[in-house]
Amino acid sequence: MTIDSAFSKPQKLPVTQIQLPELTEKGIKLWLLRLDQTHPFISGNKWYKLKYNLEFAVDNGYRTVLSFGGAYSNHIHALAWAAKEAGLNSIGVIRGEPEYAANPTLSDAQEWGMQLKFVNRQDYRLRQDPDYIQQLCNSLPESLQPVLVIPEGGSNKLAVKGCREILSEQVLQHVKPESVILACGTGGTLSGVAVSQPSLNILGIPVLKNAEFLYDDIRNLIQSSGEADPQNWTLDLDGHFGGYAKCPQDLTDFMQRIESECGVPLDQVYTAKMLLRTLQMIKQDLIKPGSTLLALHTGGLQGRRSVYGSKN
Ligand SMILES: Cc1ncc(COP(=O)(O)O)c(C=O)c1O
Repeated sequence: MTIDSAFSKPQKLPVTQIQLPELTEKGIKLWLLRLDQTHPFISGNKWYKLKYNLEFAVDNGYRTVLSFGGAYSNHIHALAWAAKEAGLNSIGVIRGEPEYAANPTLSDAQEWGMQLKFVNRQDYRLRQDPDYIQQLCNSLPESLQPVLVIPEGGSNKLAVKGCREILSEQVLQHVKPESVILACGTGGTLSGVAVSQPSLNILGIPVLKNAEFLYDDIRNLIQSSGEADPQNWTLDLDGHFGGYAKCPQDLTDFMQRIESECGVPLDQVYTAKMLLRTLQMIKQDLIKPGSTLLALHTGGLQGRRSVYGSKN
């Protein structure tokens, strides 16, 4: 299996208009680009974030890719599959207890050949420390060397390069949006989307509390990709609904409503927060009435299994 076949995707991704009374009331057209349908396992933004990273690993003779994530990490899940398809070993450094290894996300990852290493919160905080990373790599056997370390969430300059491909001309011509809205974790996806479309407004909705740090992280990611910051992006810091991975009842109710009224499944960590916050902003006129918006469904549906069990 080559990188090209591992990363093949449909020529055309569905883009659907969301019909809800609160949108009609404000004369807003809201479209949803279904990146979740990019690939069954390298879903949503992961396809774009991982493509050039894995290509780099293969082209430069790495035997192993190593990355970091939580116990339900979409990134770890997608990386395990992509690495297997690309013929690479994979290691997931997971925040938390070894018991998590039995959950659906990490069970899949292991089935696809990923080795897991569980670390406590204190050690996990060192995930960007060069000495810690070097130590981790050195502790691996010779048969796995050399090791390419991909940051948490996959966000680096190669992810930004991949995310520049998210908005196709076809979709933009069809929807003609004034603004693009997406959920942010590490900001890699927003960085790529922003530099790819300097004339559009890009609104990021961080799903973490106290996400002010993302302003610098996004500027740094854009800079690392060799692009000038188009300064066309803003963040709304009020869409975290209690914090990362917090899932209050109004959020699960909203997921059920969107699934039954619009036929769109959302995930509770990223896409449901992004869409619910968008509707709140529309209601409060924080988004201009009469605008045309394009929201990105960045995937994450595998993580629904932590809420709904393994059938989802
Ligand atoms: C489903 C989903 N949507 C959005 C994001 C946020 O992307 P980023 O970390 O690039 O901001 C993530 C995390 O990578 C994710 O898994």
